Amino acid sequence: MNRIRIAVVGVGHLGKEHARILSALPEAELVGIADVNNHQARSIADRCKTTAYESHEDLLDIVDAVTIAAPTLYHHKVARDFLERGIPVLVEKPITTTLAQAEELVEIANSREIPFQVGHIERFNPAFEELTRRPINPKLIESERHGPFTGRSTDIGCVLDLMIHDLDLILSLVRSPVEDVYALGAMAFGGHEDIVNARIRFENGCVACVTASRISPRPKRKLRIWASEGYAGIDFVDKRLTLVQPSDEVRRRGLSQMELDPNRREQLRQDVFSKHMETLELDCTREMDQLTAELKHFVNCVKTGRRPRVTGDDGRDALALADRILASVQRHPWDGVLDGPTGPKHMPAPLGKLFEDDSNEGREAA
Ligand SMILES: NC(=O)c1ccc[n+]([C@@H]2O[C@H](COP(=O)([O-])OP(=O)(O)OC[C@H]3O[C@@H](n4cnc5c(N)ncnc54)[C@H](O)[C@@H]3O)[C@@H](O)[C@H]2O)c1
Repeated sequence: MNRIRIAVVGVGHLGKEHARILSALPEAELVGIADVNNHQARSIADRCKTTAYESHEDLLDIVDAVTIAAPTLYHHKVARDFLERGIPVLVEKPITTTLAQAEELVEIANSREIPFQVGHIERFNPAFEELTRRPINPKLIESERHGPFTGRSTDIGCVLDLMIHDLDLILSLVRSPVEDVYALGAMAFGGHEDIVNARIRFENGCVACVTASRISPRPKRKLRIWASEGYAGIDFVDKRLTLVQPSDEVRRRGLSQMELDPNRREQLRQDVFSKHMETLELDCTREMDQLTAELKHFVNCVKTGRRPRVTGDDGRDALALADRILASVQRHPWDGVLDGPTGPKHMPAPLGKLFEDDSNEGREAA
């Protein structure tokens, strides 16, 4: 196969970036884009020097592969039409709206051995890639993903919109079945949850505490891991990886402050991070952005027939965990009793205001 004839379905906020990048990849030929919004389709097609189509069905006979960035509600129908024709698919996250839909797509792709990738883009974040090159067996994970209110992806809540990125990353690191989940969350402006915290316990003893919010003033995307090997912290925004590990000396002999005399205890306090715990700060920024890396990887998988880094099975597993979290969020009793307010739509009545509108204190804090 020479250049992969590829198309993009849905060229809104994210899909237009797929089209821009694919139109410039030497190993691909962007043969078309499809969007139900005619005006959007034509404007992006002009910009990317390709052909605009109204329906994804117009692309079925002219492509070797497709990327899908239509709203999540349409992922199942559109992806199935391509997979049933034996055409490789990259579908944006979340894979589908329901688990049954995801199972069906995975079954079609696996039975026909078609490359089927899901757009969990943080797997291509260079800081995360750097971490996966090192041995680590996480026992406690904390993740925070905060984003500003964008008004987009209103067909889903923050679990399927944001948290699902971290669920996929955590599942890829822990590789153990989930034992149980406890979660709570609240709705602010949309018809779905906008902020959620979940505690996930795995059968291998690892615990993950995961928070996602799409109503935060400042973006924040962090993952912290504690393990026998040491500590790893990732800042996905700055693409920085911080690693901390015990020195060889501590690894060999251990170190207990109880066995030290008072002077040596004081010395220990001063030397912890200079002598006994080694720290490595890595700036992992690179020239190629994550979306380009992800799309190049997909095109390469189509060319070689290799399984993608993030398969349909991975997308389905992340969705299955997201579903358990959403079910737990719905059950959470805010006042601790089942006949009180429960779930993201019914918070307890507020006790009062935290500050007055005209208070200087309030303005300063904001
Ligand atoms: N990987 C990531 O980090 C990431 C980031 C943002 C969005 N997403 C995902 O990408 C998808 C799109 O999100 P967005 O923010 O770009 O949405 P958007 O609303 O900006 O764009 C969606 C586009 O799809 C078009 N469309 C709707 N139905 C269609 C259909 N049946 N066939 C063809 N086109 C159709 C719309 O007209 C629109 O132009 C969602 O699934 C979202 O969850 C992923």
